[in-house]
Amino acid sequence: MITDAEFVKGFCNMCENGSKMGWHERNGGNLSYRIKGNELELIKAEIHESDAWREIGVSVPRLAGEYFLVTGSGKYFANVAASPEENIGIIKIDEKGENYSIVWGFLNGARPTSELPTHLMNHEIKKMYTDGRYRVIYHAHPANLIALTFVLPLKDEVFTRELWETMTECPVIFPKGVGVVKWMVPGGREIALATVEKMKEYDVTVWAHHGLFAAGEDFDLTFGLMHTVEKASEVLVKILSMTDARRQSITTQDLISLGDAFGVRIPKKFL
Ligand code: 13P
Ligand code: ZN
Repeated sequence: MITDAEFVKGFCNMCENGSKMGWHERNGGNLSYRIKGNELELIKAEIHESDAWREIGVSVPRLAGEYFLVTGSGKYFANVAASPEENIGIIKIDEKGENYSIVWGFLNGARPTSELPTHLMNHEIKKMYTDGRYRVIYHAHPANLIALTFVLPLKDEVFTRELWETMTECPVIFPKGVGVVKWMVPGGREIALATVEKMKEYDVTVWAHHGLFAAGEDFDLTFGLMHTVEKASEVLVKILSMTDARRQSITTQDLISLGDAFGVRIPKKFL
């Protein structure tokens, strides 16, 4: 059974964990995974190639012929583990990288997430930039991070520096920093283009007044990245709620020492 495959179990598990964190009210958030060749072999007998191609809305030629496991539009993360075939599905990208077809799941007329353009554009850029290592793109609506987008300037430098200062491990876990996209209409081509510009440089991109996108090699690392950013945001929200005058913080020199100690390169623009 496809649902017994390790990558499908990992995917469902991540949906359940995100839901338990409170990051997926109603149908909020979406998840996609670029399936490996050997994983595809194991499920080949159960997938049904289809000629019903639908437009992606953006062009992703470097993903031609790839298969993705994706959450459904309007589907609740809380329901994924209990009934995967109704809430998630596998899509195949055509040879031009402009259309997709459903080859498994999405029962009863379900469709892939409305954020498919952003997911696939992010997959394409990460596949290129990481020699194929990155396979997971994750979008969630974590409350503390969203709250910060109402009070901090919407600048990469400000969000990165504030989060780095708030929790010691942050510069080690996301040494490239965090990108910020201003408020935009979700679910289409424009926001996908703006996000992928940020994802060329970062593994995390904030959507102002909406949520967060994270990219990573596997489910654990990507979930962990989301969790770290949201945890640091929670600490920052608490600090800002207590006082607007911090007595002490992690200093520029501390960040340099942290980079040296853990062997990560800290870009100068954040110091
Ligand atoms: P979908 O239900 O289409 O995945 O949309 C949820 C969401 O978070 C949009 O940004
Ligand atoms: Zn969203």
